[in-house]
Amino acid sequence: MIGSLVDTVLDRTVLGGYTQAGYRIRSSGWDQAELPSMEGKVVLVTGATSGLGLASAEGFACLGASVHLLARNATRGERASAQVRANSHSSDVHFGLCDLSDLSAVRHFAESFSADVQRLDVLVNNAGALVAERTLSVDGFELTFATNVLGPFLLTKLLCPPLRASAPARVINVSSGGMYTQRVHLADLQSADTQYDGPTAYARTKRAQVMLTEVAAERLAGGGVVVHAMHPGWVDTPGLESSLPHFYRATKWLLRTPQQGADTIVWLGSSPTGARSSGGFWHDRRQRPTHRLPRTKETFADREALWGQCERLTGLDAGTPTSHFDDQP
Ligand SMILES: NC(=O)c1ccc[n+]([C@@H]2O[C@H](COP(=O)([O-])OP(=O)(O)OC[C@H]3O[C@@H](n4cnc5c(N)ncnc54)[C@H](OP(=O)(O)O)[C@@H]3O)[C@@H](O)[C@H]2O)c1
Repeated sequence: MIGSLVDTVLDRTVLGGYTQAGYRIRSSGWDQAELPSMEGKVVLVTGATSGLGLASAEGFACLGASVHLLARNATRGERASAQVRANSHSSDVHFGLCDLSDLSAVRHFAESFSADVQRLDVLVNNAGALVAERTLSVDGFELTFATNVLGPFLLTKLLCPPLRASAPARVINVSSGGMYTQRVHLADLQSADTQYDGPTAYARTKRAQVMLTEVAAERLAGGGVVVHAMHPGWVDTPGLESSLPHFYRATKWLLRTPQQGADTIVWLGSSPTGARSSGGFWHDRRQRPTHRLPRTKETFADREALWGQCERLTGLDAGTPTSHFDDQP
């Protein structure tokens, strides 16, 4: 393992840490063989049709897990499943359809997954969107917020019963280093009050994911489910190329491969270390600070308020016995 001083310098310089160079330096001391077998474990990866999700699904399948890919398009889901089967030499690879920006679809998917599969050892909330123009989801929410925050929030809540049934279980939320630049605007979660800027709206949702990870970790404490957030660095994926084309072209030669970006996802989902803590923000197998700038800092009350708004917007505050995230199944 490289020294923590070198690691911290890489992290602070961003360019050094987030690129392929950072991954190569840090991973030089890792024992890839140390990851334990995941035979008998069930893993669900959202956004598994390309990029980081596809690489994560392959990583878990190679460790022997039963892997379920969540996709919003049947052709892409089928193609990705075939690729994971071929590259992992595992036939225990499945896919389910769900558009995460559509809350009814999330409810439907979670219901059928819980009925069909019953257990869930690792949930990877990886699917993400960054759109150039302010767009609304079918439910009328700003699309980035719906896809990156509300859908995963609802999915995680609804999959708590199979997660608890598989305790010790893990939830991994794939955020972004871009979240360091933003704070959440609780009065304008859906970026309606100012001129819309896609990357800013995206970074705020990524900040929200980290805040919600901290609250979820507290609420699920003691129930055998740990929750992590992580960021993959800068990774050569179709998503990066289409959403930030200028950045992509300028940095292409520095970018990580999807496998390198997905390494910490697979490591958090499989290693003994990933089971030992909850609520942290990880990058390259180390816990990282959640803030770099004083202006992005939020309070405990802000995190609770964000949680409450997510419960309200997803209909989880309806007061039914199963409405709250931290209710036991
Ligand atoms: N690449 C990077 O440098 C980078 C850096 C930081 C964080 N991230 C994060 O990493 C995650 C994966 O991104 P990526 O770079 O691998 O991009 P990607 O290749 O475009 O993958 C995104 C995945 O999300 C899926 N998706 C998007 N909207 C969805 C929806 N409404 N319902 C269901 N699935 C949906 C996509 O499905 P389709 O195939 O149907 O489009 C695709 O499978 C994202 O959360 C992103 O924010 C990436």
